[in-house]
Amino acid sequence: MPVHPATASAIQSAARRLQRGGLVAFPTETVYGLGADASQADAVARLYAMKARPRFNPLLIHCASARAARALAQWDARLERLARAFWPGPLSLVAPCRADAPIARLALAGLSTIGLRVPAHGTARALLRAFGGALAAPSANPSGRLSPTRPAHLPTRWRRNLPVLAPLRAAAQPLGLESTVLGCAQARTLLLRPGALARAEIEAVLGEKLTSPPRRQGTKRALLSPGQMARHYAPRARLRLNARRARADEALLAFGPAPAHRGLTRNLSRNGDLAEAAANLFDHLHQLDARARKIAVMPIPPHGLGEAINDRLRRAARSTV
Ligand code: TXA
Ligand code: MG
Repeated sequence: MPVHPATASAIQSAARRLQRGGLVAFPTETVYGLGADASQADAVARLYAMKARPRFNPLLIHCASARAARALAQWDARLERLARAFWPGPLSLVAPCRADAPIARLALAGLSTIGLRVPAHGTARALLRAFGGALAAPSANPSGRLSPTRPAHLPTRWRRNLPVLAPLRAAAQPLGLESTVLGCAQARTLLLRPGALARAEIEAVLGEKLTSPPRRQGTKRALLSPGQMARHYAPRARLRLNARRARADEALLAFGPAPAHRGLTRNLSRNGDLAEAAANLFDHLHQLDARARKIAVMPIPPHGLGEAINDRLRRAARSTV
């Protein structure tokens, strides 16, 4: 099935497909999502199967509005403050799920909490409104592979079999990193996944420091914060991080002024802008990964969006898919 520009009629037909239990790929302001009706267990099961995603890893539940999201969780003052400051936008909030929420428990991987996201992208919002319910929507990549920021990044097989919506205006450049995920089901606020909204902005609104979950991997951690799985966001190529220059047999993923390199080079941001680097990260990795076996990655400063960029790079480097 071809890529459809998100006209009103393409949105309507995608919404009907979702209502019938089908899957649809659509743009958000972060990365492309693969959506399924969150209330239909069999649609959610098809989504897990398509991504080959481990069933213990819960899906983010996308809602058209903060009001719709509120109805699914046990809401409190902290959630309200965060929602008011950042929704719609690239922040996902994990809260206790209401017992009567019409959400397939498979989408929550059996947890008592629900991860809520209200995207800001016009196409995502139009689709959610036309659909009329909540969508389970992980990033539109096979589990463990790089996230897509454009339709061309989707696996060819998916592009043939699924409707893929494309933004009407090409100008809407995705932020390029998945949403920041906060755990709000306990007294402290946990940074479960660094992402497109930087830690400092959240801390300024909360008036408290975010708590990082412990780094150690384990089954208990996997349940608390499944997205922290080390092997994620994996290219096929081998990554060498914090490289000052590339060797002859490596491609170079540069940041800031780049050293001379004869091989394939992409620069995340020539003038060292972290937002530009975030927007380019997955696209540049996709491009280098298609043509190189080894990639040297220059150091990225750890502050602001650099926290999430370094998080994705570390996971990509650790993987051996
Ligand atoms: O930017 C994004 O968030 C993208 C776009 C498509 O919206 N979506 C996305 O969804 O990345 P997904 O399902 O791939 O990522 C969900 C992350 C995972 O790390 C998952 O473990 C965590 O959120 N998560 C979801 N529900 C959770 C819950 N109840 N408790 C703890 N972590 C949860
Ligand atoms: Mg993902």
